[in-house]
Formats: sequence, structure tokens, C-alpha cells
Amino acid sequence: MDKKVIALLNQQVNKEFFSAYLYLSFANYFENRGLSGFANWYLIQAQEERDHAMLFVKFLQNNDESLIYEAIEKPASTWENEMEVLKAGLAHEKFITDSINKIYATALDLKDFRTTQFLDWFIKEQGEEETNANELIQQAELIGKSGNGLYMLDQKLALRVYAAPSLVL
Ligand code: FEO
Repeated sequence: MDKKVIALLNQQVNKEFFSAYLYLSFANYFENRGLSGFANWYLIQAQEERDHAMLFVKFLQNNDESLIYEAIEKPASTWENEMEVLKAGLAHEKFITDSINKIYATALDLKDFRTTQFLDWFIKEQGEEETNANELIQQAELIGKSGNGLYMLDQKLALRVYAAPSLVL
């Protein structure tokens, strides 16, 4: 594999672990506000991000490439209100989409089709991640300042259960 692609994949491991850390911070924010359904939703999101990180790890290992676990940046922990957290989630997913697109474009330039094929799953996954983040914002906008609505959305988000990724390496 080309060194450029390896470096980007290695950086992506860190970005996925950071995503997990960021969502743990979101979960903590909501837990402290008595919104344990939102907290549950982001705890599961964090589990998914760890899975994403490990898929990149496994892909590098399967290709006999070494990787290094770099330091994980400290995530934000304070926001003005719930909506700000949800918007930070969408902005972060867009950042991750850009990052994966960049790896894809680099691999394609280098005719590294094994990597582009591996990334196909993530391209689709990022579409779903952005849709989920966007829907949460739309639902919160509909609720506005209604305490009842917030409580009902929290009850709904409490139902989310963890599912292992459909991609197995
Ligand atoms: Fe690993 Fe939320 O994308």
C-alpha cells in the first residue's frame, strides 16, 4: 500500500476514536440534564465509532501494515443548550465524511482499489450518519421549547439498541 494511503487510514483510526470520545461527552451532557434517552442514543453512537475505528485497524492489519495509536484530543464538554449539541454532532459527521472522501480520492488516484472497496461501506455509512444527525435536529426543532415533546423524544431515543456493524473483515 502507498504510504500516503496508510497515513490517512492511520489518522482515520484516531478520528473514529475521537468521535467515540466526543459522543461520550455528549452522553455525559445529556445524562447530567436528566435526559437519559439522549444519553443512551449517544452511548450507542460511541460504541459504533469504536467499531469504525477497529475496522480501520483490522484493515491495516489484514494488509500487513503497521499502525500507531496517537493521542486522542480532548472533546468539548460544554454547550449552550441541547440543540447546540445536536448541531455539533451533524457538523462532526460532515467533517468525518470529508475525511473519508479524501482517503477515497487519494486511493483512487493511486489505483488502490482494495482500499476504495473497503471504504465503500463507510461512504454509505456516512450518508446514514448525517441523516440520523439531521433527523435529530429536525425533531428537536419541531418540539421547540415544549417540555412534553422533549420528554417524548427522550423516551424514543431510550429505545435505541446497539447493533454490530454489517461490515465484517
Ligand atoms: Fe464513524 Fe459517525 O462516523
